[in-house]
Amino acid sequence: MMFTVAIDGPAAAGKGTISKAVAAHYGFAHLDTGLLYRAVGAKVLAGADPVVAAQTLQSSDLNTADLRTHDVAQVASQVAVNAAVRDALVTFQRDFARRDGGAVLDGRDIGTVICPDAPAKLFVTASAECRAARRHKELRERGDDISADQVLADVIARDKRDAERATAPMLAADDAIVIDTSDMTIAQAVAAAVAYIDVRRT
Ligand code: CDP
Repeated sequence: MMFTVAIDGPAAAGKGTISKAVAAHYGFAHLDTGLLYRAVGAKVLAGADPVVAAQTLQSSDLNTADLRTHDVAQVASQVAVNAAVRDALVTFQRDFARRDGGAVLDGRDIGTVICPDAPAKLFVTASAECRAARRHKELRERGDDISADQVLADVIARDKRDAERATAPMLAADDAIVIDTSDMTIAQAVAAAVAYIDVRRT
């Protein structure tokens, strides 16, 4: 059985949490495609060429520690502008989407570019303030003492770069359902996602 769930949206909107819960609910595999760009970004921070880093990326690179820092996030969104970097990562993502047993992929261009034929597409969003507050809490819990204002500025800068780039910009697909999680609990957001996917599966 093949079934692809595409989940896109801006930084720290709750895509990861919803994707993991949806994957667990249906027994699907989950790929956080942001980690691909973060892994390339981490290699670039270490001195690598972005295109070579993307072309030689290994699954084991996704398990590297520290991919979740805000420095890596910023460089990830800079390398993500590069069409050759994006091209190098397409096959891996499409192969993952087509795996037997179902797959959930979350990112920015899954419903528009990577899996335009996905039967279920969600665009998960929230206000910039909500998203920055959530990310600030996560970073603080990881031991990063970055200020709330800095996180908000970084989230806004990254969203702008992601939405305005020429290649595969962050965009809700025309046939995606939009879920604004600003005033939702995690349980409510997951329930909304599952209710939509249940309909798309029948
Ligand atoms: O976790 P968060 O929402 O903050 O970001 P992420 O999903 O880990 O993505 C990090 C960066 O990778 C984004 O800001 C995008 O620039 C880029 N990205 C992308 O261009 N396309 C994707 N499918 C996923 C991520």
